[in-house]
Amino acid sequence: MDRLDLPAFDTELDKDIYICTHYGENPADHHGAVVPPVYESSLHVFEKYEDFVEAQKDEQKNYLYWRGTNPTVEIAEKKLAALERGESCKCFASGMAAISAAVLAFLHSGSHIITLGNVYGTSFKLLDYLKEKWQVEHTALDDFSPESLQASIQENTKIILLESPSSVTFKLVDLSAVAKIARENNIKTIIDNTWATPLFQKPLLAGIDVVVHSAAKYLSGHSDILAGAVISDTETMKQIFDNEFTLFGAALPPHEAWLLIRGLRTLPVRMKQHEDSGLSIARFLQHHPAVKKVNHPGLLENESYKLGKKQLTGYAGVFSFELLDGSYENVKQIINTLSFFQIGFSFGSYESLVLSENNGSNKEELRRKGIDPGLIRISPGLESPQSLINDLNDALNSVVR
Ligand SMILES: Cc1ncc(COP(=O)(O)O)c(C=O)c1O
Repeated sequence: MDRLDLPAFDTELDKDIYICTHYGENPADHHGAVVPPVYESSLHVFEKYEDFVEAQKDEQKNYLYWRGTNPTVEIAEKKLAALERGESCKCFASGMAAISAAVLAFLHSGSHIITLGNVYGTSFKLLDYLKEKWQVEHTALDDFSPESLQASIQENTKIILLESPSSVTFKLVDLSAVAKIARENNIKTIIDNTWATPLFQKPLLAGIDVVVHSAAKYLSGHSDILAGAVISDTETMKQIFDNEFTLFGAALPPHEAWLLIRGLRTLPVRMKQHEDSGLSIARFLQHHPAVKKVNHPGLLENESYKLGKKQLTGYAGVFSFELLDGSYENVKQIINTLSFFQIGFSFGSYESLVLSENNGSNKEELRRKGIDPGLIRISPGLESPQSLINDLNDALNSVVR
């Protein structure tokens, strides 16, 4: 079977599993090697000058120079485009490189952007930078409603940037409602789909224009690479390739792409484990006396539960909870008492992680962002869920008086 074709499958999940494991690879191209090689080569040479000249007419399709296209990177791109049901994907050196490229692709100086939900902190910093340098204004809407979105649209609004769920409070945004309003107003929609991965959410099918990822999280899953991706239609991706990708030069190195391909092979089984683990821990936390609220869209009591049933096919592992006593001392005590959960940024990998936005001196900033001072975010890794529950139970009991 030619692994560049997609055969018929019983379910969309079966199709995704095939894409993760085999699609985009062709062992016959690599002496039958079942695992494709890392093409660690900065350039490709030509036997005939006229072929070299011809290849330059389409740098996106032809292998010329690593800053443009690389055969190993291309395999990862084929898989990600197919998983998102998009036409084309470009991988970048980091998630932020991908987000910056997607945002810049649709902006002019003086444009306006709307953000929905708590988008990733560094994405906000990008918007502050764009405001200072190029007078790009932005409006941040915390609570999405079609009315508030409609009211925030200006004549110069070019982009709606969103994350659903956001990776702090884990609230969902209604993707098809946003996409409809945006299309009616000729505005591009960009979603950060890092949390759900394309296995659990396919925003392009809901009408969103562009999907971006930090592939350092679930997609690669082993905390050993930085990578980003942008997925959209052929025309948009051609423009991004020619401009924001090629000119800024944030190409993904082939070795990182190879590790990403390896991570993708186990994505479906890892996501199942993360989902089960996250839900079991969330249900446990709901009943602990030190906990005020659990922010997990898979809990029946959660404000996003109904919407999640409509637009998600599963739940990633990372979520947050809020302490009854959200003092810095309490947050610190709990985090320092945990032993399975290591303290650090990021999420979505084999190891369990914990962090809080409370640094002991940012009460006002947290209030402005709508973040509870007692909010703790955990990313359950691939350890046994019961060990993680026991760890959390011990840490939480240490603050119950
Ligand atoms: C939700 C989300 N989006 C984007 C990014 C940025 O990705 P990167 O760190 O690969 O630049 C991160 C990083 O933590 C993230 O958590």
